[in-house]
Amino acid sequence: MEFALSEAEAYKDPGTPEAITRRKMMANAVVAVGGVIGLVLAVPLLGSLAPIAGTGGGTWSALNDTDMKQFIAATDKPVRITLTVKSQDGYLPESENEQFVWGVKMPETRLAAFKAARPDLFEDAAGKVDFPVVNLGFVMFSSICPHLGCKFNYDNDSHRFACPCHGSQFDGSTGAHLAGPAPRGLDPLPFRETSGKAEITWIDYRSSDPARIIVAYS
Ligand code: FES
Repeated sequence: MEFALSEAEAYKDPGTPEAITRRKMMANAVVAVGGVIGLVLAVPLLGSLAPIAGTGGGTWSALNDTDMKQFIAATDKPVRITLTVKSQDGYLPESENEQFVWGVKMPETRLAAFKAARPDLFEDAAGKVDFPVVNLGFVMFSSICPHLGCKFNYDNDSHRFACPCHGSQFDGSTGAHLAGPAPRGLDPLPFRETSGKAEITWIDYRSSDPARIIVAYS
């Protein structure tokens, strides 16, 4: 004898085998489409969240070829290297201005001493940057004094960087702060080599702050 299901019990009826198979296929299709859509949305989102290694998010500017060759030929002295920094401010046309950086060679043999002298760059959360400080055996230091933004010089006799404004001094090999009112050691810049050209991204760091805070990228 067959019993008709009441309306309240109708949801318990699994239906025919064909109907069950059809429902399973539709459910699987919905899951698969949902997965593809999720993946399509997730990839650019994750890409936008991930730091762009080595650029720090700025524009790459080529270093002067002649200076760079002189630097590569040099031994353990810092070399002043000029570059034309390109920058874009909002919707304004791209602008260019002349800058210079201090290049220091950093072979493997000096790396341990560099890290020991500059824990602010490698260990302290307040001083770390989101790009490799040492790349291709070089470190590029910004020429801007971390005290109040003057440009410092290199003194060959003392092997120190010396700021003319208020007397801050920094080690000529590591950029560690040695004397004067500067609140931290020298600031590094992202550096790379591409198609035979050396390039850096210029960064403005906040002055007079023990922490290394990025104010703007070029
Ligand atoms: S700006 Fe360099 S010591 Fe003050």
